[in-house]
Amino acid sequence: MNKALSVFFRAFVILLGEIFTALFRFMLCIRKGRKNIKGELALVTGSARGLGKAIAIRLAQEGCNLAICDVNIEEAQKTSEELRSKFKIECKAFKADVSDTQQVTTLYNDIAKTMGTVDILVNNAGILAPLGILEGEDSDVFRVLNVNLVSHFWMVRKFLPSMIEQKRGHILGICSSAGRHTLPLSVAYCASKFGTTGFYRSLYADLCMYEYNKFIKVTSAYPGFINTRNDLEKFLDDTSELIPRIEPDYAAEKIVNAMLFEKQEIFFPFFYRFSAVFERISPPKTLRFVREMLSKQATGLIEDRVSITRK
Ligand SMILES: NC(=O)c1ccc[n+]([C@@H]2O[C@H](COP(=O)([O-])OP(=O)(O)OC[C@H]3O[C@@H](n4cnc5c(N)ncnc54)[C@H](O)[C@@H]3O)[C@@H](O)[C@H]2O)c1
Repeated sequence: MNKALSVFFRAFVILLGEIFTALFRFMLCIRKGRKNIKGELALVTGSARGLGKAIAIRLAQEGCNLAICDVNIEEAQKTSEELRSKFKIECKAFKADVSDTQQVTTLYNDIAKTMGTVDILVNNAGILAPLGILEGEDSDVFRVLNVNLVSHFWMVRKFLPSMIEQKRGHILGICSSAGRHTLPLSVAYCASKFGTTGFYRSLYADLCMYEYNKFIKVTSAYPGFINTRNDLEKFLDDTSELIPRIEPDYAAEKIVNAMLFEKQEIFFPFFYRFSAVFERISPPKTLRFVREMLSKQATGLIEDRVSITRK
């Protein structure tokens, strides 16, 4: 049989198997086994505040020790202190700009020296950038792409080898629904997040190539709008009445659970799963209508989009 046909046929058999297993589990109320990560060392980038902090808290609840990494060291130290006293875990704050290779190397060495080998790497640091194509400076575009996309290369290239050596690890990439659907006034942001979608899929392909996927897991998360920043909430109010917003704690719960159940990708709210399928199957006129309607939601625009991007 032709090779491509044989792959499709085997994929179809696996699909049937998955459907039957899911039905069987559902009927017998059997829940899939969940990973135990107690005592593992997790590094969460951009975890001084926002979603990163919520993920760090959720991992601490699972009994992980934590390396809190952020450019904002004062805030990171506060978060670290809070986690240490609340959860009685080992927790340290590290200052690093994850888009700078030298600082990533220093971060790696400092963590190895003081805490040991990282088992769980959460690439969360990102810049929320509501910028149109003609807005801001060239340096704003570079910064968004470097922090939101290129930093994932530096982090994985530095931390993956020790995971391979110890034959254990989980890499969690915080992407975005804006890496699957476009938004108005977010060209650099969407481009960076579409980039991370490709990054995590290709990373998995690389791991499979060497069979590292047997012991190193990859999960990428595609959340919708999360209420993390007051200054952005106004932008979101102006931009969208259609798109639901979620709380950081809820998002962290979904993301960490996906990791514990070794899911490869997670989209939420659930509606984004359907919208991805809708995008693929819609004829051009329908798709154009929906895209135009979504863009037209961006009416009463706020003035300070450049300053939001630079925060
Ligand atoms: N808020 C949302 O609606 C939303 C939706 C989907 C995905 N996301 C993604 O979730 C992640 C976190 O977003 P958030 O809403 O918590 O943002 P946030 O601005 O509240 O927090 C980002 C954190 O990252 C840190 N940071 C920024 N640049 C850094 C760098 N170069 N090196 C190290 N740390 C850096 C900041 O100091 C801050 O503590 C981002 O990757 C974002 O794209 C957010």
